[in-house]
Amino acid sequence: MWPHQMQRRYSGSTKENDLLQHLKKRITMAGPLTVADYMKEVLTNPLSGYYMHRDVFGSAGDFITSPEISQMFGEMLGVWIVNEWLNCYNGQKIQIVELGPGRGTLADDMLRVFSQFPEFASKISLHLVEVSPALSHIQAIKLTGDTDSDEESTSQTAKESNITESEDGGPYRQEKSKYGPLVSWYKSLAEVPEQLSCYIGHEFLDALPIHKFHKTEKGWREVMIDIDPEKEGLRFVLAPSDTPASKAFLQVSPSEERSNLEVCPSAAIIVQEVTKRILQKGGYSLFADYGHSGEKGGTFRAFKKHKLHDPLEDPGTADLTADVDFSYLRKFTSDTVSVFGPITQEKFLTNMGIGYRLQALLQSASQDQWADLISGYKMLTSPEQMGERFKFFSITRKHNNDYAPAGFSDLHVKDDNSEGS
Ligand SMILES: C[S@@+](CC[C@H](N)C(=O)[O-])C[C@H]1O[C@@H](n2cnc3c(N)ncnc32)[C@H](O)[C@@H]1O
Repeated sequence: MWPHQMQRRYSGSTKENDLLQHLKKRITMAGPLTVADYMKEVLTNPLSGYYMHRDVFGSAGDFITSPEISQMFGEMLGVWIVNEWLNCYNGQKIQIVELGPGRGTLADDMLRVFSQFPEFASKISLHLVEVSPALSHIQAIKLTGDTDSDEESTSQTAKESNITESEDGGPYRQEKSKYGPLVSWYKSLAEVPEQLSCYIGHEFLDALPIHKFHKTEKGWREVMIDIDPEKEGLRFVLAPSDTPASKAFLQVSPSEERSNLEVCPSAAIIVQEVTKRILQKGGYSLFADYGHSGEKGGTFRAFKKHKLHDPLEDPGTADLTADVDFSYLRKFTSDTVSVFGPITQEKFLTNMGIGYRLQALLQSASQDQWADLISGYKMLTSPEQMGERFKFFSITRKHNNDYAPAGFSDLHVKDDNSEGS
């Protein structure tokens, strides 16, 4: 279906939004955009990018994420972080670095867990990597408990106060959390101090720009986005010859059977940076996302109001995403770190004891809470819902023997094994 559609997809919208006009100007001046350039503009353009000026989560938004579904998700990750620290870095100061924290719900649930471990809580600082001024404001309200601005936080265009542009590449915002630890905000991981850290990324890598390639009779061609001359909107086209991205990023094995490939160099840079930091300063990481191990191709898609949406229609009004290729990311780690997973969300959360946590919460739950807890548990763990499609992947310092982090440990995962091998 997709090569045929590729030639003919266009925006059916009648009124052009500002971002569409901007994209068309760019294309008119410099030629078709790569899908990566398009994704970057649509999601994070400072003026009208999808994430930049509003709350996009929950029933009133476009999609829901695991931390928003149930507190148990953040609690399991919080326990995982404390457990690794106790096993590997007990007594040492550590930065908790969360990439793409959304509404701050995961960070809030994790900080609540940390407050139950006073020795650990006294050693941490929280570092949030967030490009969106609106979301960083919502995160600050959640994490500080500053309810004065609650009304503003839930409005479509959240207030963007207390943000200072840092000139030295340091944090653009700092607040003391309601649990005690200091919270600092940065635009990129490169700005976060290089210290012993735990890196967490939940549904972050899937928001990073991908390049798309399609196999033709003449060889592999990059998929580009052009103005549709017959309609008002945009359409997919194929580059007539090699592009800088196809030369730099496309590595096709002779046994490749897919005819569509997606490559995410921005995610590779994050994994490379996390690997380098873990090697130099110590630490561990956990990434969770929609993902696969190199068997999927055309996963680029958009979500609007909880439904699939044409990614080229009304750019900036729908979330854009692509499944994470964990086998590609593994290549950007190193033999000198340990890599675990990807394993399914169901396995990770079950291994971490989400079933026991559910039982404990049910004991003091009201009837409404009981129903919420059960449905949240099912949504997070059931293979038909989020249990199978979401995967967990961890990079840690190299340990002796058969050490594997909690959650991964009953699988006896060796350094270079993925779940299926
Ligand atoms: C799909 S949301 C996930 C939110 C949250 N982790 C959750 O699970 O609810 C992606 C998050 O990453 C942020 N983001 C997207 N691209 C980014 C980038 N290039 N740098 C930093 N943050 C980014 C968005 O603003 C948003 O907070």
